Amino acid sequence: MSAVTPASPSAAANTTPTSSSTSEPTLYGKPPSSGPVRRITVNDLSQAKMRGEKWPMITCYDALTAGLFDESGVPVLLVGDSAANVVLGHDSTLPITVDELIMLTAAVVRGSKRAMVVADLPFGSYQASPEQALHTASRFLKESGAHAVKLEGGARVLPQVEALVSAGIPVMGHLGLTPQSVHTMGGYRVQGRGEAGQILMQDAKALQHAGAFSLVMELVPTELATTVTKSLAIPTIGIGAGAGTDAQVLVWQDMAGLTPGKPPKFVKQYADLRSTLGDAVTTWADEVRLGKYPSQEHTYQ
Ligand code: KIV
Repeated sequence: MSAVTPASPSAAANTTPTSSSTSEPTLYGKPPSSGPVRRITVNDLSQAKMRGEKWPMITCYDALTAGLFDESGVPVLLVGDSAANVVLGHDSTLPITVDELIMLTAAVVRGSKRAMVVADLPFGSYQASPEQALHTASRFLKESGAHAVKLEGGARVLPQVEALVSAGIPVMGHLGLTPQSVHTMGGYRVQGRGEAGQILMQDAKALQHAGAFSLVMELVPTELATTVTKSLAIPTIGIGAGAGTDAQVLVWQDMAGLTPGKPPKFVKQYADLRSTLGDAVTTWADEVRLGKYPSQEHTYQ
């Protein structure tokens, strides 16, 4: 394992956080090129909430981008079941399997040193019972090295959350649009408007009470997400939930402009990777066709 994982909780507490600033405690900071690095923990995220510090979480599905995002200082990498769409080409998150997501999660853990790696529990791998959830989540921690798991739903998954937390597994909740329930929700649309907002608030408080260490809110009106954030002691992470949450998450291919088509309103594209990569491949293919590549410079004598 490339990262130095603390041998015990007390060792973790005694390790100096890797930070770009020595005076200000912060979640941000690049892992040093050598020497010990400790992973971001649930305690770090809890302290960030107390300081009012906002932070980013980004999806990640392979070792190369894990290293890049880690070096960029992103404190939490989510191996989302969105891999079903953006990696495996399915049209929903439902088909991805536990084995497939464990393989991707293991790559992200190997590729990163400092970030906490959170793995999504796939559809059908935890809903049946707390025992099933514990079996699946244990596989993620043992076989991939994930540091936490995420699961979707409110009241209906509280026994699962309690079972995982009792077993020492950090759990991230997920409310609002929960893509694994797309067929009952009738599509990918904003959730929690009107009276549904009260249910979302109750679910959020219940997840916190069950021991969840953080909560994703997806496609939720800004006012509701902000009120939930102020009502909880645990950090909230928004996606299409406005600026009032403690953290923000985006699918990396969306924010980097690799995903084709018009992005949803909440996505800001920070790059145009689709054009950049497309142009590079087209130029290389043209040069191969014209015999311009490889030139002397790229040839062994
Ligand atoms: O699977 C995923 O990428 C997610 C995020 C959108 C929160 O659940």
